[in-house]
Formats: sequence, C-alpha cells, structure tokens
Amino acid sequence: MVQLTLPRNSKVKTGKVWDKPAGATNVREYKIYRWSPDDDENPSTDTYFVDTDDCGPMVLDGLIYIKNKIDPTLTFRRSCREGICGSCAMNIDGTNTLACTKGMDEVSGTIKIYPLPHMPVVKDLVPDLNLFYAQHRFIEPWLKTVSPTPETEWLQSHADRAKLDGLYECILCACCSTSCPSYWWNGDRYLGPAVLLQAYRWLIDSRDEATGERLDALEDPFRLYRCHTIMNCSQACPKGLNPAKAIAEIKKMMVERRV
Ligand code: SF4
Ligand code: SF4
Ligand code: FES
Repeated sequence: MVQLTLPRNSKVKTGKVWDKPAGATNVREYKIYRWSPDDDENPSTDTYFVDTDDCGPMVLDGLIYIKNKIDPTLTFRRSCREGICGSCAMNIDGTNTLACTKGMDEVSGTIKIYPLPHMPVVKDLVPDLNLFYAQHRFIEPWLKTVSPTPETEWLQSHADRAKLDGLYECILCACCSTSCPSYWWNGDRYLGPAVLLQAYRWLIDSRDEATGERLDALEDPFRLYRCHTIMNCSQACPKGLNPAKAIAEIKKMMVERRV
C-alpha cells in the first residue's frame, strides 16, 4: 500500500474542549479551526460553548462572545457586522458565507467554522487575501476616460445606471472565488469570479471609455477562460449576486468584438 507523507502542519487534530459557561441554560456548540504561525503545532479544531442568552443571534455574535468571554486568542476578521464590509467571510457549516448575516438558527447541531478554503491562512480564521486584492487591482477598478472631464459630473441615463445593478453591490468578500474549483487550482493565473464580476462592472459602465483595453487585459487562456461554468460561485454569494453570469457576459463581449 502506498504511504503518503502529509505536508507539514496539514493534519487537523482534535483540539481543546473549553468549559461550558457556568450557569448557562441555552448553549450552542462551536467547533473552530485554530492555527497559529507562532508555534510549531498542527492546526486543530477547538470546541467552545456559547451562552445564547448572553449574545446576539448571529454566528458572528457567538464568535465575539467566545473572544470576549472564553478565549481572547481566537482570531477572526470583522468590522461592520451588517453584511457590508465583507471581512467576516468564512466557511460555516460547509458553506462560504458571512458570519454576521448567518443566523445560528440556520445551522443545525454543532456550528463548524473554518477559514475560506484554499487560501493561505494568516492565523485561525483569517485568510491571506493579498493575491485576491492584487488581482482586483489588476483589472483597474476605476473609471477610465479620454474625453475632457465634465465641469460637474459624468452623466449616465437611468437605463445605463440600471446595468450596474447586481454588480455594484459586490462587497469583495471572496466567498465566490474561494468556492470555485478553477480558482482553487489556478488561483495564481485565473482571476476568479469576484474579480471578473468587478471587471464586468467597469466594462458595462456607460461612462467608461477603456472597454477595448479592459478586454485586451482579459484575453488570456487563464485570466478569464478558466471559468468552466460550474456555478459554485453564484450559489455561494451571500449578497445574491451572479458572478457566473457576469463572466458569461464578458465572454460574449469577447466574441462580439471579433465579428
Ligand atoms: S462558474 Fe466559473 S467562476 Fe463560477 S464557480 Fe464555476 S468555474 Fe468558478
Ligand atoms: S460576488 Fe458575492 S461572493 Fe463574490 S466577492 Fe462579491 S459579494 Fe462576495
Ligand atoms: S462584519 Fe462586515 S460583512 Fe460581516
């Protein structure tokens, strides 16, 4: 039988089981991925018990309860707790989503939490998003024009403005990209659904005057064409957006400009 040697620090062991809060009558069990670059340990899943009478109803409320009352070393990102900043994206109950908009009551049994998949981990639930942000920068996510700047503002009709609906709401949480198998295996070269949705947001903006240049930058076997329409991205988006459709629209623009 073939014997495989797992890479260093790749095996997740069962971690510490923390005490239940004294006197609590309603508790939820959380199992949370823990890993620190500061020690030489393998990652583990620690078990915590959250007193649901002493915190809000969302998964993020439970994480904040744990950090404040049980284990201050638990590390995760969060900011707005309103589904707007995208920083609390993580894998909850097997799905990439936002901890602040996911109710504890939407998860049956133990609430299992891991960092967003297939990303390097900085610590615990914090993924390293440097490549993701560099890819966002690559598509130059700002208005590019050659016409003289108007005295007041760049005008847009209501109909043209409506074309940005379903795109401008993206909060760059990365839930979609980190649920995309093509991005898992080719994340260094494939831009992924989040960044491509952003690219389409600028391609379709009637005020932007760099459409050809933007399409040239995407005309590449990996950057755009690694999307195989698996649709995980659209299922994962916690804002209900459809990155796969945006990618299909870019591919259509590529074809149309050739004929
Ligand atoms: S549709 Fe494309 S971008 Fe979305 S998950 Fe599938 S391969 Fe990835
Ligand atoms: S498309 Fe949705 S899942 Fe993807 S980054 Fe934007 S908000 Fe997040
Ligand atoms: S904390 Fe901002 S989206 Fe969850």
